[in-house]
Amino acid sequence: MDNQNPTLAALVWAKIWSAHRERWFRIMVRGKNNLPVAGFFDAYPRFFYTSSTASERDRLNQRHSALIQFNANVIAGRRILDIASHDGRWSLAACKAGAEYVLGIEARQHLIEAARSNMREYQVPDGKVQFLQGDALVELDHLEAGRFDTVFCFGFLYHTIDHMALFRRIARLNPTNLVIDTAISTQPGSIAEVRDEEIEDESNGAVGDPGAPTRAVVGTLSREALELMLRAAGFPALRYFDWLNAGIKRWDNLKAYYLGTRISLTAMVPAQKADGDPPTYREAAA
Ligand SMILES: C[S@@+](CC[C@H](N)C(=O)[O-])C[C@H]1O[C@@H](n2cnc3c(N)ncnc32)[C@H](O)[C@@H]1O
Repeated sequence: MDNQNPTLAALVWAKIWSAHRERWFRIMVRGKNNLPVAGFFDAYPRFFYTSSTASERDRLNQRHSALIQFNANVIAGRRILDIASHDGRWSLAACKAGAEYVLGIEARQHLIEAARSNMREYQVPDGKVQFLQGDALVELDHLEAGRFDTVFCFGFLYHTIDHMALFRRIARLNPTNLVIDTAISTQPGSIAEVRDEEIEDESNGAVGDPGAPTRAVVGTLSREALELMLRAAGFPALRYFDWLNAGIKRWDNLKAYYLGTRISLTAMVPAQKADGDPPTYREAAA
């Protein structure tokens, strides 16, 4: 069995780096190049205002490169499920990248309304991009398997504690690609950092817990824990977006990506399976 316990040296280094990385960013990186970055969202400026969650122009434009352009081959002509679709920013981006159909799931009604009105304003044809209001962990169970090719899970994994339950539900739908953008714990080992957050904030977990209805317990996975869960859910092949070598000159609104506390990756089902291999999770569950 693998030894998944971090070494003492790894623990000490993680503590030192986590104490100093913010200062490093402030002194060495922030404000070094103030030229604004043009990109996809300049043509769709409503998204700078229809949400207060990470809606800075640079950030949205650079995330578009990492999440949509980098994955163009698994978006164009595909059926997309956008989990935690917020104001529809990534659903619209998928549509404009040639997706056949997009369904967004979002817990907050006012964001569903903002998303629908954004689609109207940008003249998305009726029925091409739809939104479903509800808890993703519940709504996924009501969707038909085989209905989606590619699933987006952007900015959501660290607003739930039910990571594996979420991955199992996604796997049941039988998509071939799962695109993830998430904060991660940089503590060594295969861990989740558990905390709770106010559900009042529209960027946070939306479903309160029984003993503390205004708060949600959530967990931020380490990269190791995330990879372990993705393998277990049947998405063993991973392709990371390399933020540090993406030619980004201005990092002011992208601190977490620069510091490696946030990552973007595409998890895929295996290309093919040989005769006699044991059934995958998705086959067993079908
Ligand atoms: C940080 S925002 C991410 C928005 C967008 N996906 C992005 O990456 O730019 C998190 C979103 O998850 C939604 N959310 C939180 N808990 C949810 C749940 N249980 N089911 C569906 N959506 C949820 C929030 O309302 C919010 O829109």
